Amino acid sequence: MRLVLLGAPGAGKGTQAKKLIEKYGIPQISTGDILRQNVAEGTPLGKEAKGYMNAGKLVPDEVVLGLVKDRLKKDDCKKGYILDGFPRNTAQAEALDKILDSLGISLTGAISVDVPLGDLMKRLTGRRTCKGCGQMYNIYFSTAKKEGVCDKCGGALYQRDDDKEETIKKRLDEYEAKTAPLIGYYKNKGILKSIAGTGGIDDIFAEVCAAAEGK
Ligand code: AP5
Repeated sequence: MRLVLLGAPGAGKGTQAKKLIEKYGIPQISTGDILRQNVAEGTPLGKEAKGYMNAGKLVPDEVVLGLVKDRLKKDDCKKGYILDGFPRNTAQAEALDKILDSLGISLTGAISVDVPLGDLMKRLTGRRTCKGCGQMYNIYFSTAKKEGVCDKCGGALYQRDDDKEETIKKRLDEYEAKTAPLIGYYKNKGILKSIAGTGGIDDIFAEVCAAAEGK
């Protein structure tokens, strides 16, 4: 299974990807997570990416493509993967096609998780993430049992730097201008499935799995 998860910031891509990992035993490749790790570690790449991320802008394609090419070479990708937050524009989608072509493989599906714009702000301003295991919570919709502490691993919960209202608005604009056109890109290839990303996380997951399995 080689999937692309599409959707606006806050649509629930990461939430669904984590459940897909558990069910299918394939890795999630989140360019956002890889970039944030580089920022946290203060690597040269992280230093370059930080300004773009905090401004709600896309990080330059050459930086992201280098990361993805390296990641796809790892052994755990042999069984497949879930691409979360990549590709983010047409140039990245075309570059991904070339990488896969050169390996003699192709994507098995692209799933668009659709959530009305009006719901996204609360999802993003309310999001809290575990520093230890990456589990996501939301102060409005799915709180941790003990405030600020992860139910799963006891790690501390933090708020992402780019989950501030002003930055979120810019991320949503960037999504509409650059990423939303990929819905048409994958529709034209005949591999797009669109599902509603509102309602219970498990109900959405059932739809995601059906789409991933081509049902
Ligand atoms: P990235 O990390 O990819 O962020 P994003 O696309 O903005 O998506 P999010 O992670 O914010 O949302 P999500 O859809 O995963 O939602 P989640 O599951 O967390 O990118 C960040 C930045 O990195 C970019 O702005 C850019 O600068 C850079 N970048 C990354 N990739 C790049 C690329 N390829 N090219 C260039 N630049 C790149 O859910 C959100 C919240 O909602 C959570 O609190 C969750 O608990 C809650 N929630 C989930 N589902 C539901 C539900 N059904 N009902 C209620 N609440 C829900």
